[in-house]
Amino acid sequence: MSQAVTRTGWATRFGLIMAVAGNAIGLGNFLRFPGKAAPYGGAFMVPYFLALILLGIPLMWMEWTIGRHGGKFGHGSTPGMLHRMWHNPVAKYIGIFGVLLPAMVGVYYIYIESWALGYAWQTLTGAYWGKTSQAAMASVFSDYLGMGGGGPISFNARAYFFFLITFACNILIMSLSISKGIEFVAKYAMPALLVIGIVLAIRVLTLPPLEGRTVSEGLAQIWRVSDWSVLRHSDVWIAATGQIFFTLSVGLGMVHSYASFLNYEHDITLSGLTSCTANEFVEVILGGTIAIPAAVVFFGVVDTRAILDQGTFAIGFHALPVIFQRMPAGQVFGVMWFILLFLAGLTSSMAMFTPLLLFLEDELQLTRKRAAIGIALCVFVLMQPVVLFYHRGVLDELDYWMGDFCLVLFGALEAMIFAWIFGMKKGWAEMHLGADLQVPRVFYYVMKYITPVFAVALVVWSAQDSLWRRITMQAAAPENVPFLWLARAMMLAMAGFLIWGVWYAWRTHPKFFEEAAAKRRS
Ligand code: ALA
Repeated sequence: MSQAVTRTGWATRFGLIMAVAGNAIGLGNFLRFPGKAAPYGGAFMVPYFLALILLGIPLMWMEWTIGRHGGKFGHGSTPGMLHRMWHNPVAKYIGIFGVLLPAMVGVYYIYIESWALGYAWQTLTGAYWGKTSQAAMASVFSDYLGMGGGGPISFNARAYFFFLITFACNILIMSLSISKGIEFVAKYAMPALLVIGIVLAIRVLTLPPLEGRTVSEGLAQIWRVSDWSVLRHSDVWIAATGQIFFTLSVGLGMVHSYASFLNYEHDITLSGLTSCTANEFVEVILGGTIAIPAAVVFFGVVDTRAILDQGTFAIGFHALPVIFQRMPAGQVFGVMWFILLFLAGLTSSMAMFTPLLLFLEDELQLTRKRAAIGIALCVFVLMQPVVLFYHRGVLDELDYWMGDFCLVLFGALEAMIFAWIFGMKKGWAEMHLGADLQVPRVFYYVMKYITPVFAVALVVWSAQDSLWRRITMQAAAPENVPFLWLARAMMLAMAGFLIWGVWYAWRTHPKFFEEAAAKRRS
C-alpha cells in the first residue's frame, strides 16, 4: 500500500520562507528578548548563542524534517508525524504536545497582540498624549486592560473591541488555504515589518545624547559583559535557552505543520537556516536596538532596569509611549512601533491554530469549514478567562506551562525521538533530500548527542528551578488561586480532548485502521 500523499500547500518558496520567518519573528523578539537579556548584561549572549547553535538551529532542521516526512503520509500535525517515526503506541500521544501547545499559546498570545493594535490606534488619535511619566502610562495601561477600578473582572470595552478584531483576523487567515491565508499575509506583512523595524532602529541609533546619556550606553546593556560570574548560575542559562525555544517557535508544533506541505524536491536545510537567521537579525539587531537603548537614553540605566523589573510589557507599553511623546514626530514613530508589534504578533499567531486545524482535518476527518468553526468557537470560549481574569494571573499561568516549560519538554522529547529512535543516519539522509545546502558534518554529531542532551538538561534545570514552586502555587496570592486552577482546567480540557481525538482517530481513520489490521494479520 503506497501511503505517499500529495498535499497542496505553498505557492512560492519566498512565501514559505516569509511564513516560517514570520512564525518565528513575534512579540518575543521585541518584548521578551530585551526583558530577558538586559538584566544579565552581555554575559546573557553567551548561553544565548550557544543555545542557538547547539539547540535552536538543529531543532529547526529536525522539525522541518519531521514535518515533511509526516506530510508525505498525510499528517499535518505531530501526533501522526511522530507515529510515522516511531512505531510505538506512545509516540502519537507525545505528539499531542505539538497541537496543544501552539493552540493554548494562541489563546493568550492573540490577546497581547490585540493590545498592540489598540495602542496603535490610541497613539494615532493621541488618546494618551499628555501622560508623560512612567507612572501615568502605567495607569493608562492598567485602565486599558480594565484593571483600573479594582472590580472582579478586567474588562474594558475598547480593549475588547480590538481583541475581537484581532481574533477575527486570525481565524479568517487560519480558515483559508495555506497559500491564500498564511502565505499571502506573510508575503506582505514580513517585508513591512522589516522596513518598520529598520526605520525605528535607525531612529534610536541617531538619538542625540540626553543629559549625558547616550545610545551606546543603552547598547552596552545588551552587549557589554560587566560580570562574567552570572554564568555560574543556572537562571541565565534557563532564560537564554528558553528564549531560543520561544523565539524560533521550536518545540511548538507549528514548524512541523508548515513543513508538512513540502515534497522531497523541496529544500529544507537552507530554508530552515534562513528562517533562523532572519529571526536572529530581527531579535538581536532590531529587537536589541529599539527598546532598551531608547529607554536608557531617556531614563538612564537604573530606571530602565526598574522598568524591566515591572514585567515583560512595561518597556513596550509604559516606557516607549513616554519616549514617543518626548521626541519630534513621536506620534509617527509610536504608531510604527505598535504596528510593528501587531504585525510581528499576527505573523506568529496566525500559525498557532494550524496544527489543531490540520489534526481535525487529517485525523478526525472533519471538513475545513467544520474544523475552523469548531476551533473559532472553542478558542473564543477559552479566551474569555484570559481577558476577564487577566489581573488574576490566568495569562501568566498559561504562559508558564505552555510557552515556557512544556515547549522545552516537547523539544527534548522530539529531539530524542529523531536522533535516537528514528535514528540520526536516517534523519540526516531524510533532511538532505532536495537540499540546497549540505549541512556541515559536525552537525550530525551535534544533533545526535548534544541537542537531545542539552534539551533534557534544560528540562531538568527548569524543573529544579521553578516546577515545584509553580505546581504548588507558592508565589500566588491566595485570592488568585481559584483562577490559576481555572487556567489549569482549560489546559487539561484541551489536552483531554486531544487524547480522546488521538485514541479515536487511530481506531476509526482508514489509514490507521488498515495499518492496525495489516499488523494483526501478519
Ligand atoms: N516565536 C514567536 C515569538 O517570538 C512565538 O513571539
